[in-house]
Amino acid sequence: MGYSIAVLAGDGIGPEVTKHAVGVLREMADMGNFSLEVHEGLIGGRAIDEAGDPFPQETEALVHRAQATLLGAVGGPRWADGPLTPEQGLLRLRSSLGLFANIRPFEVLPGLETTTPLKRAFSGGVVIRELLGGLYYGEPRGRAGDEAFDTSRYTKAEIERVARLGFQLAKTQGVPLISIDKANVLHTSKLWRETVAELGRREFPDVTLEHRYVDAAAMEMVLFPDRFRVVVTENLFGDILSDLTGGLVGSLGVLGSATVGDWSKGPGLYEPIHGSAPDIAGKGIANPVGAIWSVALLLDWSFGLTQAADLVKEAVRRTVAEGIRTPDIGGTASTEDVAEAIMARMWAQHRAAR
Ligand code: NAD
Ligand code: IPM
Ligand code: MN
Repeated sequence: MGYSIAVLAGDGIGPEVTKHAVGVLREMADMGNFSLEVHEGLIGGRAIDEAGDPFPQETEALVHRAQATLLGAVGGPRWADGPLTPEQGLLRLRSSLGLFANIRPFEVLPGLETTTPLKRAFSGGVVIRELLGGLYYGEPRGRAGDEAFDTSRYTKAEIERVARLGFQLAKTQGVPLISIDKANVLHTSKLWRETVAELGRREFPDVTLEHRYVDAAAMEMVLFPDRFRVVVTENLFGDILSDLTGGLVGSLGVLGSATVGDWSKGPGLYEPIHGSAPDIAGKGIANPVGAIWSVALLLDWSFGLTQAADLVKEAVRRTVAEGIRTPDIGGTASTEDVAEAIMARMWAQHRAAR
């Protein structure tokens, strides 16, 4: 069996963590006896510098040819005020591949129960973020002198396709689906709530559906995270609430994500939920766990290698449990120390299983 992936390392800590994520994938290929082709491409600030475009044509062609794309992070202060921004590259990548659902799982890693803000374990869950609609893409958008405007827009079809994924995950796990909106104020949210409810009645009568307003949901997620096992929400709310889950589990640096479209067909995109972290870039201390967790999600969602995915996740958990941690989660290890420890545990588990 052979697979081909595109790797877009991007800016800041992007390349620092992606290097190790690719390392983990290569080790897994050796262990699992599959061949792996890795093609690197430009995105973000580096692509602006080297190709004059944050999402160059060659990169677009590359990600369409690959079975999956692994992305680091884009952005940084150097490009923040230019006419072209690194972030535009990421938005164009997502829409070019038609990736409408961003799956962001969160769990407290073993040993961190007492260091997270809540100081206790909780069940963990997944935030499913709609990724191609709302304020991020709606027209008109722009700036005219002292005025600036963005438009939030959703169609029923856009809401249904991401909500269906939410219902399916909730059904598989036997937990309620929590849909988050601002239906007391926004038209798009009224449509969101109505559409999700209708879909539930029609296709998933056996799944419990609960609605929340986003403001109260933010409070409730902090106080009672166990209630949020599968969440589905629109683009901007999902961006914000998934970073909140990073806070709940102790660091943004440990969370990965899978971004899928019609996932039985086209390629997927896998990336940590964190950004380029300019404050720690170049120091060798970025947490590689979010990027490596994204590799586990890639193995599972794009390659269908669920056991391999579980092996990676378990190696991460053991590494953190044994105290091999970067500073963001209270340790003194470097990015490289953590990545090497994870790979060593992968091999140990692999040998033990044979
Ligand atoms: P950020 O996620 O880069 O950083 C927020 C905080 O979390 C910082 O203190 C950072 O040091 C810490 N952090 C993040 N990842 C970490 C890791 N792996 N290990 C240890 N600590 C980590 O968010 P920001 O500072 O608001 O944004 C910086 C830049 O990144 C901006 O240009 C933004 O647009 C971009 N960004 C890109 C992506 C992406 O490419 N997917 C996501 C979010 C932000
Ligand atoms: C994320 C980031 C991006 C987003 C930015 C960099 C465009 O914050 O992936 O969460 O808002 O989607
Ligand atoms: Mn974000």
